[in-house]
Amino acid sequence: MPIIAPSLLAADFLHLGDQCKMLNESEAEWFHLDVMDGRFVPNISFGLPVIEQIRQATTKVCDVHLMIVEPEKYAEAFRNAGADILTVHIEVCQHLHRNIEQIKSLGMKAGVAVNPHTPISFLGDIIQDIHLVNLMSVNPGFGGQKFIDYTIEKIKQLRKMINERGLNVLIEIDGGVTLENAGVIVEAGADVLIAGSTVFKSEDPIATIAQLRAVS
Ligand code: DX5
Ligand code: ZN
Repeated sequence: MPIIAPSLLAADFLHLGDQCKMLNESEAEWFHLDVMDGRFVPNISFGLPVIEQIRQATTKVCDVHLMIVEPEKYAEAFRNAGADILTVHIEVCQHLHRNIEQIKSLGMKAGVAVNPHTPISFLGDIIQDIHLVNLMSVNPGFGGQKFIDYTIEKIKQLRKMINERGLNVLIEIDGGVTLENAGVIVEAGADVLIAGSTVFKSEDPIATIAQLRAVS
């Protein structure tokens, strides 16, 4: 069964405590937290103080997705705020290996995110050093976008790379995941489904999370 990681970008921020409580009672194993800087992506979301408070509200895994330039400046602060997994974008890291080593030395699991246009082959010399790949299935910056179908092909390529090398790296899919496409995504080889709008805009988020988890 896939790990479900609801993205709190789509949550009701006026009732964040209730939303965390709901997720705690659900089958979601991770909280996906999207940090945007208005530079790498054309949008700004939330940052350290919000994550610090979410950390107090859950014991589940806090999966922090940094859509920011110069992530090395903030890695320690996100660790202190409570991140369990810290993911950086390959497109902004000129010294990706150094970024990954920093994240791991701070005691977090390290993820690399790749935009829709970035080839899977670019992960070839870093995959053995990381815990997870966030495969973006939309252009990062906004929730509620449509899933880019070519991602299915990329999931298969990445699954093949990971299996051929006998690695234990998780494939996480981010953007446009719905009850309709979740089955195909998992079948292609994904381990973690991030879902913002599908969960939080649903009439019954707890039931939707259970349905997403039961897709395969
Ligand atoms: C987009 C974020 C996603 C987003 C997903 O830049 O990385 O995590 O919240 O939202 P949905 O599931 O609505 O596409
Ligand atoms: Zn994300």
